[in-house]
Amino acid sequence: MAEEEIVLKGTKSIKEVVGRDQFVSKLGIIMATLGSAVGLGNIWKFPYQTGSNGGAAFILLYIISVLLIGIPVMVSELALGRTARANAVDTLKKLSPNKIPWWLVGAIGILSSFIIMAYYTEVAGWVMAYIFKSMGGGLLSTDPGVTSAAFTSLITQPVASLIWQAVDILLVTVIIVFGVSKGIENATKRLIPILLVLLLAVAIRSVTLPGSSQGIAFLLKPDFSKITAATILTAMGLAFFKLSIGMGVMITYGSYFRKDQDIPGTALQVAGSDLVIALLAGVAIFPAVFAYGFKPDAGASLLFNTIPAVFASMPLGNLFMVVFFILTYIASIGAQISLMEAVVTYIEEQFKLRRLWGSIITAVGMALVGSTAALSNSTLANFKILGLVPFDFFDVLSSNYLLPIGGFCLCIFVGWVWGKKNYLAAVTNEGALSNAWFSQALFYIIKFIAPVLVLVVLLNGLGVFHF
Ligand code: TRP
Repeated sequence: MAEEEIVLKGTKSIKEVVGRDQFVSKLGIIMATLGSAVGLGNIWKFPYQTGSNGGAAFILLYIISVLLIGIPVMVSELALGRTARANAVDTLKKLSPNKIPWWLVGAIGILSSFIIMAYYTEVAGWVMAYIFKSMGGGLLSTDPGVTSAAFTSLITQPVASLIWQAVDILLVTVIIVFGVSKGIENATKRLIPILLVLLLAVAIRSVTLPGSSQGIAFLLKPDFSKITAATILTAMGLAFFKLSIGMGVMITYGSYFRKDQDIPGTALQVAGSDLVIALLAGVAIFPAVFAYGFKPDAGASLLFNTIPAVFASMPLGNLFMVVFFILTYIASIGAQISLMEAVVTYIEEQFKLRRLWGSIITAVGMALVGSTAALSNSTLANFKILGLVPFDFFDVLSSNYLLPIGGFCLCIFVGWVWGKKNYLAAVTNEGALSNAWFSQALFYIIKFIAPVLVLVVLLNGLGVFHF
């Protein structure tokens, strides 16, 4: 009997059977992995970057990036993790045949988790605050001047910012403490369907508004004059962030995959569904933005300044506003879990600690690093690292530097060190799956195409090109 079936019959816990917690069902694996990909990236980053970069043309570039970098790198990370069944650092240690310290790639990944979580938890905290503010009717103004004043007053209060962030970290930690199958898999399996239903409701509201067609055209009609080298590079950076790749989060999740899971199939489903959710968010936002004559290119504050004013303009707007911020928060949970899990597993396995202690240590560490981002608009507004406040520094450092560096190293490791034989054995389940053709193609992309593309993103992030 397969180990998973013994567990499903309820005789033993998965940990007792395989010695390490892992995901139980195939659908659960897809939901957990999708839960990591879907996040503030879909509802905050993707829309504001699409809005600032001309709409459909940017989306097209993003889709190409997902195909040429996103899916191949995701498959590689998952395959590495499942083969080694260990945290990101140990996975690279175990699979590396030579003395080159490839594990550093995993170590940089663990570090990146702290850095992304530092500002991610702050944005999630604002979203949580917005749920309550909109419930109280406090954001109900059609004047973006008023809504942006409300946003400014939120982010410039140091104590409130710290508290919202702490509440958010606490919530994520509680799910993590329950473990891989009972915590992560269980939570994401329930949250993703709720997210979909709520998002669909807002999207339907948005497209049925009079005057929404301009927003739909913005999403569907590519204007190729908007494409510059910088736009291409932004789209590739977004693909990394969106699919949670380049730093070992997917290695960690892969280490919990069932041995009969179809990895390329899972990656395709996850990347495809994630794209649908990002596009749905675009459909929920842009038709309404255009219907009421707002500008799509407000940048990072689109979610917090423009969107409340847009909702305030429509019938039943306050209800939809509350729903929108609830679904945004729900989306952020699965992503935060995955960022935290990569660190917790490492600490657990490295220092032989119980999960509870690994989780507490990670949560406290994240709250400490995160507090610098939370205070970026108040107490630390004048504290600059390389000319940026901590919040922006963390965002730029992770998206422009650490994720592409990690992604590039992973491509080289898989394509040139781990090699074709090991790779194909892992992604075809030792030949049990009939995906040889697709797997071969993915391997050549990982070996030759993806690293070159990623290197271009990286060099751009380092400021080598001046567009
Ligand atoms: N993909 C998530 C989002 O779109 C963010 C995220 C979660 C992430 N885990 C990650 C980004 C690992 C980079 C690496 O919001």
